[in-house]
Amino acid sequence: MAIAISFDVETIRADFPILASSVHGKPLVYLDNAATTQKPRAVLDALTEYYTSSNANVHRGVHYLSGKATDQYEQARASIARFLGAAEPREIVFTRNATESINLVAQTWGRANIKAGDEILVSAIEHHSNIVPWYMLAAEKGAALRVIPMFDSGELDLEAFARLLTSRTKLVAISALSNALGTVTPVAEIIRQAHAAGAVVVVDGAQAAYHMPIDVRALDCDFFAVTGHKLYGPTGIGVLYGKAALLEAMPPWMGGGDMIASVTFEHCTWNVIPNKFEAGTPDIAGAIGLGVAVEYVSRIGMDRIQAYEQELLAYGTDALRQVEGLRIVGTAPRKASILSFVMDNIHPHDLGTIVDREGVAIRTGQHCAQPVMDRLGIPATARASLAMYNTRQEIDALVAALHKARKVFG
Ligand SMILES: Cc1ncc(COP(=O)(O)O)c(C=O)c1O
Repeated sequence: MAIAISFDVETIRADFPILASSVHGKPLVYLDNAATTQKPRAVLDALTEYYTSSNANVHRGVHYLSGKATDQYEQARASIARFLGAAEPREIVFTRNATESINLVAQTWGRANIKAGDEILVSAIEHHSNIVPWYMLAAEKGAALRVIPMFDSGELDLEAFARLLTSRTKLVAISALSNALGTVTPVAEIIRQAHAAGAVVVVDGAQAAYHMPIDVRALDCDFFAVTGHKLYGPTGIGVLYGKAALLEAMPPWMGGGDMIASVTFEHCTWNVIPNKFEAGTPDIAGAIGLGVAVEYVSRIGMDRIQAYEQELLAYGTDALRQVEGLRIVGTAPRKASILSFVMDNIHPHDLGTIVDREGVAIRTGQHCAQPVMDRLGIPATARASLAMYNTRQEIDALVAALHKARKVFG
């Protein structure tokens, strides 16, 4: 069956040099996109161009190169603001990754606003990055961490959510898309109900940002965390979106250069947002690279990427279901292109090792989501996660490699 939407995957693949490589003498089939995505040539070129002809520190110099680097860094912020639908670029704070973005909220908004007896609501499908910072904050403040449960399919139990939401709930921290199961959560509805109860909402968008269009204003979320390396950008750069009024009211987190307005030994005052949260020299090249990455995907169109990936997901789901002894883990009706699975009598780690010999890169383990594994009573899964440059032929290669693994393990 032909792909129904017009989407020239071969042209896109040609933009990603690493996809033409071989591993163990076989063409690389890269299906570990939930861990990190590959980088298009436009991003690689932007990094080289920056270090070749723009390298200087930002916000500090009067000289030409410092101005050029600052312009490129701030243009990247503007591109990311547009990509996420933020009202203005100053709502975009550069961080190292989604983990740092979430910790920033916990350490600033959280420490200023969470008190003993308050409740923080997370969900059963969260990545450790959206559990541990809240666990630490709750422990420090004498607050309680409550958990929205999930069904066996990986869907959240929204009736339980409504019951858990009380006047004690001060914060809801929720992933828009589960990295371990592929579940797309009804994040807009969760935000609406949380706001009605007076709670602030942090959305972990680490996975969602490269699988679906995001509009933080339409969602009305208070904070949205993004990690650059999953969004076809460099490692070491992430983003925290925050509503301007919230960011302005928050105390700073890390102290140092750039985040201050004035410093004496007796008294320090803080810079305006977003600089207040960007202490020290930032990852300038990384920010510029991420700006180029979001321009790149925007040219293709996140809605078209989503539609293409949904077709791949349907194809992959059917193909995997036909492998003897294989069970897909995560069967929510609304999913993104992440396929977790287990196979009878074969440990996921052994599976990963055997398919790697066939050139197929998948991930095995708990996927930084131990509570998901505990809830489902399994130690680990194998996970094939698909991105916009993957093809049906690559899914066929995975299936062929899985058949080989089945033969090896009888
Ligand atoms: C849902 C989710 N949240 C957060 C993270 C953390 O991303 P990073 O390690 O880049 O901070 C990940 C990474 O796998 C993720 O999948």
